[in-house]
Amino acid sequence: MNPFTVRLFRYHPEHDDQPWSQDVEVDGSFRNRMVLDVLEHLKTRDTTLVFRRSCREGVCGSDGLNINGRNALGCITPVEEALGNKDLLEIRPLPGMPVIRDLVVDQSLFFEQYKRIQPWLINNKPAPGIERLQSPEDRAKLDGLYECILCACCSSACPSWWWNPEKYIGPSGLLQAHRFLQDSRDTATAERLEKLQDPFSVFRCRGIGNCTAYCPKGLNPMKAIGRIKEMLFREGV
Ligand code: FES
Repeated sequence: MNPFTVRLFRYHPEHDDQPWSQDVEVDGSFRNRMVLDVLEHLKTRDTTLVFRRSCREGVCGSDGLNINGRNALGCITPVEEALGNKDLLEIRPLPGMPVIRDLVVDQSLFFEQYKRIQPWLINNKPAPGIERLQSPEDRAKLDGLYECILCACCSSACPSWWWNPEKYIGPSGLLQAHRFLQDSRDTATAERLEKLQDPFSVFRCRGIGNCTAYCPKGLNPMKAIGRIKEMLFREGV
């Protein structure tokens, strides 16, 4: 198999005035591997290369990257698929967030927005002996919502979030917000909706849809945001 070129975004704040691109040729056998395998290999050749990763299974959400123009998880993105008919694999940090070093971004605002939606069950009724039960039908309402791994691929692909990361919760946080609004065991629906009722938190979504197009878990944040808007209109909060 033909070798291919990996173009890496490089930036070390203590050594570089500005980011630069590094082209590295990689053996063609890596065409059958995942993008994260290529990064691990390149790290053995240049130990100064920095990126995040942990599980290697598409579960932890650490290795969100921009790969040939698309946000994706390096560990579950096949090189062949990312290359398409090109011989160039361009790997950049997730857009819309400050770069700390090389492929590592500062996700502080992303997690601030996650915190805002109170991502935990709120129920002040006395807890039953063992657990709060839920019918299979109510449990099914959480499908497509609870699977989010907070990789930030969706929010980082959203122009509305790029321009207002302090005020717009963004697709990932709103998918999670909908997860708790849907939970039959949660008793804080009205309070949760009230906190979302302002011009920015939800309504800054313009329905662009990059979030849904790029979610590596196949989730649909745009639909979840639409449902929250419906609830806000219906409740008239
Ligand atoms: Fe955990 Fe990729 S390394 S999701």
